[in-house]
Amino acid sequence: MLQDAFREACARYATGITVATVTDSGGRPHGLTANSFSSVSWKPPMVLVCVDHGATAHDRFYAADSFAINILSDRQRDLSIRFAGPADERFEGLDWHPGPETGAPLLPGVLAWLECRTVHRVEAGDHTVFIGEVKSAGGTGEAQPLVYFLRQYRLLQL
Ligand SMILES: Cc1cc2nc3c(=O)[nH]c(=O)nc-3n(C[C@H](O)[C@H](O)[C@H](O)COP(=O)(O)O)c2cc1C
Repeated sequence: MLQDAFREACARYATGITVATVTDSGGRPHGLTANSFSSVSWKPPMVLVCVDHGATAHDRFYAADSFAINILSDRQRDLSIRFAGPADERFEGLDWHPGPETGAPLLPGVLAWLECRTVHRVEAGDHTVFIGEVKSAGGTGEAQPLVYFLRQYRLLQL
């Protein structure tokens, strides 16, 4: 089956792990674990993330005019699991803060973060591709990334 071969091929593409986040009109945070993040353009700086139509956070992403990408470190496997778990518990007790340019939620202790203004929403099969222009970004030095390969969390070995 093509579907199976497709999944097996994609599972062999090692990625980092991000938590993509937005706020709703009431200022409440929403987010999901996403490894479909990619940089897109340098000038202007642009990135994308693909969100499943069925994801609880999908319509929040569609309605928002900005989003943030939080790139997880190897010590944040718990955050990856949390943001793929029950939607109403994802931000419970979490010390997030609004990004300086867009207000999109930034998570504590991440390896790096990007704040983006949403410039395109592209329908692609069962996902929407959200393309954002990066408005601010930062990173936290020497930590190592959380890696995902063959459906498991891995540590980077250099
Ligand atoms: C490692 C990993 C990567 C994921 N990447 C994506 C992604 O890129 N896009 C997406 O829509 N869902 C992705 N998911 C699934 C979401 O995190 C989440 O589990 C899904 O949206 C179901 O959430 P819901 O219960 O809020 O609908 C990923 C899950 C894991 C564990």
